[in-house]
Amino acid sequence: MIAIGCDHGGLELKNEIIKYLEGAGVAYKDFGTKTPDSVDYPVYAKLVANAVVSGECEKGILVCGTGIGVCITANKVKGIRCALCHDVFSARATREHNDSNILAMGGRVIGPGAAVEVVKTWLGTEFSGDERHIRRISVIEEE
Ligand code: RB5
Repeated sequence: MIAIGCDHGGLELKNEIIKYLEGAGVAYKDFGTKTPDSVDYPVYAKLVANAVVSGECEKGILVCGTGIGVCITANKVKGIRCALCHDVFSARATREHNDSNILAMGGRVIGPGAAVEVVKTWLGTEFSGDERHIRRISVIEEE
């Protein structure tokens, strides 16, 4: 199950990503926002981040205008490794190296065609499991 959320700046792109997920048969839970009214992105970023750390959802996707606000917010939640990606190379590398569990994107930065390729790559790439990456992630998680 993929948790997905956005603010008003990410709504259009989130809807395009949802179309892709539905077409690909990927189960998702939409944490909002669902209207174009101006909202505060941290609210939606925290809903998605909490759904991932609680285990309710396996991974998450967050979209705001730049992707930056939701990424900063999600990364404040312990256990979240949120990666801001607007290209396929980064999407693949962050799954293989960082085992990122949330993907952040900016609806005002990337078009829907390229964004869907980023989503496909990120969802379709496994963590490498290499010892050096496990070690580095455990250092991130240290208090
Ligand atoms: C909202 O205007 C905008 O600040 C937000 O979508 C996001 O870009 C924040 O980082």
